[in-house]
Amino acid sequence: MNDFLDFGLINVQKILFVASEAHPLIKTGGLGDIVGSLPAALKSLHADVRLLLPAYRDAVTRAGKFKTIAALNIPGLDSPVNILETNLPGTSVITWLADFPKAYDRPGNPYLDPHGQPWSDNAMRFGLLSHVGAALALGHSRIKWRPDVVHCHDWQTGLVPVLLAREKSRPATIFTIHNLAYQGLFPYQTFTALGLPPDLWSPGALEFHGQLSFIKGGLLFSDQLSTVSPTYALEIQTPEHGCGLDGLLRVRAAHLSGILNGIDFSEWNPTRDPFIDKHYSVRRPKNKATNKLALQKKLGLLPENKMPIIGMVGRLVEQKGIDLMLDTLPALMLRPLQLAVLGSGETTYEEALRQQAVRYAGRFAVHIGYDEQLAHQIEAGADMFLMPSRFEPCGLNQLYSLRYGTIPIVRRVGGLADTVVDATEENIRVGKATGIVFQEAGASALLTSVDRALALWRDRDRWKCLMRAGMRQDFSWHRSAQDYLKLYREARRLG
Ligand code: ADP
Ligand code: GLC
Repeated sequence: MNDFLDFGLINVQKILFVASEAHPLIKTGGLGDIVGSLPAALKSLHADVRLLLPAYRDAVTRAGKFKTIAALNIPGLDSPVNILETNLPGTSVITWLADFPKAYDRPGNPYLDPHGQPWSDNAMRFGLLSHVGAALALGHSRIKWRPDVVHCHDWQTGLVPVLLAREKSRPATIFTIHNLAYQGLFPYQTFTALGLPPDLWSPGALEFHGQLSFIKGGLLFSDQLSTVSPTYALEIQTPEHGCGLDGLLRVRAAHLSGILNGIDFSEWNPTRDPFIDKHYSVRRPKNKATNKLALQKKLGLLPENKMPIIGMVGRLVEQKGIDLMLDTLPALMLRPLQLAVLGSGETTYEEALRQQAVRYAGRFAVHIGYDEQLAHQIEAGADMFLMPSRFEPCGLNQLYSLRYGTIPIVRRVGGLADTVVDATEENIRVGKATGIVFQEAGASALLTSVDRALALWRDRDRWKCLMRAGMRQDFSWHRSAQDYLKLYREARRLG
């Protein structure tokens, strides 16, 4: 009955997303992809979703047109925060940008300064975002629209549920963990500077080993918790992957669910991707070869069709296992393959990659930086895609790879374990295999799995089976968006 009502117009759920990034306004990783695509998917299921982001300089520029619709007075600030209204480009999702120039009007990365260090005022910047989210949720502005549910994403929004939990009449709250390793930890002085109520300074609230933890706010004070794959939902309840918060998450296990991320097929679709050289599809995969040649040309790789290209795209941080790839590089280069890497992140990895690219010129290409177009071209032009992650809450690149007929080679963790089916004899025989999955986070396991991939690559019929099975997978938002609607109802029931 409820389902029926909710899919009709009788009980439209009103949801406010609060997040620190959303593609195409601002993106540093998968969070941006998700917050940029889930609202539209929910809207297509008749939810009324609006989005709140900081008015970063780049986001305001990309938004183009906007109008100022309200001014909010936030405790502790000497001037109001303006709310700029725009649409998330390419969608009808109403998007509000919290405009407070001192906090957000600066160039570059939303989290890091030009030296790659966190902005020194991040606690203030994201504390402010949380205050604005709570104020909008409670109707403390000219805006009449009031949400039934506030959906918060990652530590930057962790104080929203804290602020709302103290109110008698409030919307329900959901906090989604995209990455438990990033927690928003700050010294005690920040806790006092933010003017948070003193009773919140305790291990049962926001204190975490003598520091202020933004993420604990989300984990403890929201009505429901979710994370971005079923396996990661289990993993974070263990000491190995719990980042010190596994105990808390076990206590909240009844309110924690794992909902797999979806991908935006209008952005990531080899049949109409504007960034790639030639379009192709599961029925006509031939043009993939043209994209391979174009990629080789662009990156200075030898125009060799007999060798597979292994692609890698991502943040260059320990999580992604980039060091494992670097450790195995000399051995990899003894094999008939090429590697194309796109990423940015820790300086030591960037430098090591650059050096190796000189050493193995023609076989190993590296592009340091953030390049949306090249990310698409690697997905289309590579034959295989490597993700040796130490942990991976969901991972989106393996999903893009499946769609692009680029066989993923992944570690069996988190969302990678949930989305890639290993090419065992049996799985290949029944047409289920979509990639290569390995267990250990070590150089030799990585090498063995690449060897498995190379052996399959030589067996063209089997390789095509894998490509077809992968390209036919449906990781669109449809099912996951419905799961979120159910979760919103559950949160409202409890809230
Ligand atoms: P994470 O969120 O941990 O970084 P995901 O796999 O969920 O990992 O998503 C990463 C997203 O960011 C993908 O859309 C990927 O293509 C994109 N991305 C990461 N690094 C780069 C880069 N250097 N250039 C272009 N896109 C990138
Ligand atoms: C995080 C995770 C990644 C996930 C993304 C979107 O950044 O590292 O695995 O896909 O968020 O949920």
